[in-house]
Amino acid sequence: MNKTLFGIALVIGGATQPPPLVIEPAPAPPLHSIIPVPAAIALSVTEQLVIDSGTFVVVDRGVSPEVKAVGQYLVQMLWPSASPNLVNWSGDQPARVGKHIRLIVETGRLELGDEGYDLGIRSDGVTLRARTPAGLFHGVQTIRQLLPHSVEHPAMVDRKLWLPTGNITDTPRFEWRGMMLDVSRHFLPPADVKKFVDAMALYKLNRLHLHLSDDQGWRIEIKSRPKLTAIGGSTKVGGGPGGFYTQEEYRNLVAYAASRFITVVPEIDMPAHTNAALASYPELNCDKIAPPLYTGISVGFSALCVDSAAVLRFVKDVVREISAMTPGNYFHVGGDEVKKLTHAQYIRFIESVQQVVNANEKRMIGWAEISPAALVPGTIVQNWIRDSSFVHAARGGKIIISPSTRAYLDMKYDSTTILGQNWAAYIEVKDAYDWDPATFIPGVPEASILGVEGPLWSETTMTREDYELLAFPRLIALAEVGWSQSALRKWEDFRIRLGAHAKRQAALGLNFYRSSQVPWVH
Ligand code: ACM
Repeated sequence: MNKTLFGIALVIGGATQPPPLVIEPAPAPPLHSIIPVPAAIALSVTEQLVIDSGTFVVVDRGVSPEVKAVGQYLVQMLWPSASPNLVNWSGDQPARVGKHIRLIVETGRLELGDEGYDLGIRSDGVTLRARTPAGLFHGVQTIRQLLPHSVEHPAMVDRKLWLPTGNITDTPRFEWRGMMLDVSRHFLPPADVKKFVDAMALYKLNRLHLHLSDDQGWRIEIKSRPKLTAIGGSTKVGGGPGGFYTQEEYRNLVAYAASRFITVVPEIDMPAHTNAALASYPELNCDKIAPPLYTGISVGFSALCVDSAAVLRFVKDVVREISAMTPGNYFHVGGDEVKKLTHAQYIRFIESVQQVVNANEKRMIGWAEISPAALVPGTIVQNWIRDSSFVHAARGGKIIISPSTRAYLDMKYDSTTILGQNWAAYIEVKDAYDWDPATFIPGVPEASILGVEGPLWSETTMTREDYELLAFPRLIALAEVGWSQSALRKWEDFRIRLGAHAKRQAALGLNFYRSSQVPWVH
């Protein structure tokens, strides 16, 4: 008889038995599953704060409407059907409230920057401090993620809401943490875009780039150019009805995003990707003949007649009308994949569009191809392929990093993914997470990087659920790439935290890809 303890076969009565099963103790559940992971965090679950009908959200008397709105947002989250629990608080004469969640603006806390916050949770109340309303809002999202996922079920009766106690101090790594929705290849109605806005807010994303025009569809009402939507907005990839935002709908969308501290960045892609405009107005074509509408998915074949006065008038009208209803500082002019113009024509056009955008008091953004033009330092280049972004970085300009091999949300997860494309890469969740913007593009150091953005092109996505399946969970991974310092980001830790978000995603009605790389907790 040959008897050993572990690992070596145990032979009893001549028969070889499998080694005894060694059961490891289950790892302790993580104390939190906050995404993006905060800069500094110390929590205890042994002492808790229970949030009930005797808990109040309080703000200082005389705070700005924006701060009050953050308080009201929190109240709505905690007590969706109850009367408002927001009470005023005077620093001189504290109101007699019991358990409280107090929001405090401390403009002197310079280390918190424009979006950071400082959260303290005791068993008798919460203090959330920030320099700005945006910082308070991000702190509220952290409170939301510390609460049980039932907080996402407003209709659930008898919700038990509690928080661990402790402290979190948090600031973002990058100023720009964005997502791009292509609403041109297929159109997304405003309600669907708002649902994306809400999901972005949960993960502290702050820029929504809307790709409003392309070969297949023009999606924004321009009052001086009504045919852009009447003709150019009438269809989509594969044919069938298209759609567009009226100016009122667009303004409403911009305001909704602003209420979640998200800036809308409009893009009108020029001088290529313009077939929808060319089909609407013959004078934008050099031969003055409007081409037919286009419902395929090729790129690069269209171009405005860039040296004509008619095109300059068109650009001025479009940039003026959209800028007037966009409070954010940015106007994206596309500039990618131009195959029909000479290099000189292209550069001349980009430089004249830059003047138009700046005259409308916006910073111009363009895809990487614009780098060789004489760009002013305030112009922003959006990297998407290995390209010449470093040229703009070298002149002191800022770069948004959107590598098509890491951040393109329309790439397939793997060869079995039905939706999406694979011309750049397959991008599994780990690929979307495990890279560092500061070392990704030679010649573009961290100081030149404004931030990161995940573009979601819509050649293959027809419904909101399709868009969501490609966006989630990779957008959540990108949110952490943009917010958290790289020293704090570990894939093995992230995947566990992400797994704990399945119930939250489901409660929010978000379709998401159940990657086998993630231990989902359902
Ligand atoms: C792009 O993907 N054409 C920017």
